[in-house]
Amino acid sequence: MGSNGRSTNGKSQPLYATRIDLSSELRTKVIAILNHSLASTLDLKTQVKQAHWNVKGLQFYQLHQLFDEMASELEEYVDMVAERVTALGGLAVGTARTAASQSILPEYPFDILDGKDHVIALAERYAAYGKLVRESIDATDDLGDADTADLYTEISRDIDKRLWFLEAHLQTSVEEGVAAAVSEVAEPKAKKTAKRAK
Ligand SMILES: [Fe+2]
Repeated sequence: MGSNGRSTNGKSQPLYATRIDLSSELRTKVIAILNHSLASTLDLKTQVKQAHWNVKGLQFYQLHQLFDEMASELEEYVDMVAERVTALGGLAVGTARTAASQSILPEYPFDILDGKDHVIALAERYAAYGKLVRESIDATDDLGDADTADLYTEISRDIDKRLWFLEAHLQTSVEEGVAAAVSEVAEPKAKKTAKRAK
């Protein structure tokens, strides 16, 4: 949806009158951002459910439960995002067809079974969705809607946490870059500055 109040499929969407102290121009732009991310949030929720139902292997039960928790969280975000649209006087566009056509995520693979493959598939999608949410924080903040930016910030924190949960299943060795960063933290900054001055 562009800034002219029209969706990307060319159909105009209503903007309802409200007493809220945000201009219709700002609301139209923020609603477009919200509806865009609503599609991906819905898509991600269904993909996490797909993993919840189909995961197999020795870690079946814990992953089955973890994925269910994650899907429930995403359901809450769907509601938060959609209801922010309506609070701004917009039309929340949250059908399965819209989600499928406007999501930024690729389709979930149907040919994977093992827990690790599902964790990798979800980690890739959480990373992409997390990037979209972070971009949405900046975009809505730049427009001057601190409340929507705050809503996205809340989602962003939880998505980063879930990405950590997923990646913790995969992180079995320390990467070189990470090791270097850890040693940098271990070495006091003052000591390094003193060294440089010599
Ligand atoms: Fe279930």
